[in-house]
Amino acid sequence: MRLTPLVGAVAGLALVLTACGGGSDDEKKPAETKAVALEGRGPITFVTGKDTSGNLQKQIDAWNAGHPNETAKVIELSDKADEQRNSMIQNAQAKSDAYTVLNLDVVWTAEFAANRWIAELPEADLGVDKLLKPTVETGKYFNKLYALPADSDAGLLYYRKDLLTKAGITEAPKTWKDLFAACDTIKAKVAEAKDAGCYGGQFDKYEGLTVNASEAINAGGGQVVDGATGKPNVNTPEAKAGLDVLVNAFKDGHITKKAITYTEELGRADFQAGNLLFHRQWPYQYALAQDKKSSKVVGKFDVAPLPGVNGLGVSTLGGHNFAISEFAKNKATAVDFLKYMTSPEVEKANALVIGKAPSVAALYDDPEVVAKFPYMPALKTAIENAQGRPKAVKYGDVTTAIQEAAYGALTGKTTTDQALSDLQNKLVTLTAQ
Ligand code: GLC
Repeated sequence: MRLTPLVGAVAGLALVLTACGGGSDDEKKPAETKAVALEGRGPITFVTGKDTSGNLQKQIDAWNAGHPNETAKVIELSDKADEQRNSMIQNAQAKSDAYTVLNLDVVWTAEFAANRWIAELPEADLGVDKLLKPTVETGKYFNKLYALPADSDAGLLYYRKDLLTKAGITEAPKTWKDLFAACDTIKAKVAEAKDAGCYGGQFDKYEGLTVNASEAINAGGGQVVDGATGKPNVNTPEAKAGLDVLVNAFKDGHITKKAITYTEELGRADFQAGNLLFHRQWPYQYALAQDKKSSKVVGKFDVAPLPGVNGLGVSTLGGHNFAISEFAKNKATAVDFLKYMTSPEVEKANALVIGKAPSVAALYDDPEVVAKFPYMPALKTAIENAQGRPKAVKYGDVTTAIQEAAYGALTGKTTTDQALSDLQNKLVTLTAQ
């Protein structure tokens, strides 16, 4: 279930904390922005996290061939979300025009829009009706569009189907309990799995941990931010039960010790090397793990919905939206570039090569895409049911608080009780500012 989004606390425009998705019109104060004219034509830059697909430059080359006077140059940043955010903030604070189009994580819209680092977009002109609804909500701030969804994301459970089958297990586990039991059975029965880690996710102290901790909290029936009131509500028995699954699995070894350093890319390396039985990961891993050049698990794995405590789990909503820097010169060119990059043709080509979750809804049922990536219809459902992360102007502080609480509990530095009670207090303070 998606949360019913409500505005939590608003002090001026300093901070809005709600479930990702924005509030209803009458509860929202209009943003006091002066719409910037999207003018200027000429060369632009496209600033993005590391391209793991290898496909981006091809799309840029095609754009450049058709726009010789308005070429786009890719500026590739780190593969870690927090480092990308830092680079983009530094550029904005310097009011530099070096970055034109920004590939923003879905959780950064409020912060970038409230600080006037990105320009309001001409929503009526951008064909948002063809995009998945939850993705469009992530691009809005006070009901205005600041970032156009270019891809979506939901977590999937990657599992070694070959080893499950060898151990006589016919279905992917639906609960954590079943998942850990499956590992024990596989390790007891299948010699080649003896040394593999049971489960890994993204547990290094960065945005990935915010995602994984939130999913665990949701899996226990808890929430970081209450869906009905929009207020922090993480100090609950349900949230503790959820986070405790991870805490206990780190203690008893069901989560491989190394996973405390895992980012998406480090975990992927281990899964592709055959060192993990189960891996929580985004869809982008699928095509890469099927590549014979870099993967030892080609044809050996499948994907399933994330597990929960008493049944299936719920993913955190991920994805990326394209925004235009307020300080960029060639904003009219940037608008056309946004339209091009989110066109069904470009997104389809992208989906076919890398199997990432598109923002264009129809592609999830496109026969060619589904033939190559059979998980697409299930992924669409996972995205529609995904939970948003807090929507906060001070998102950096909010996510740091979540990461610190989760990291402390997972490494045994604090108890789960203490971690979540401290987190609740911090989030309440942040929303009161
Ligand atoms: C993926 C998601 C993004 C998330 C990040 C965390 O890139 O699409 O929303 O914040 O992973 O590492």
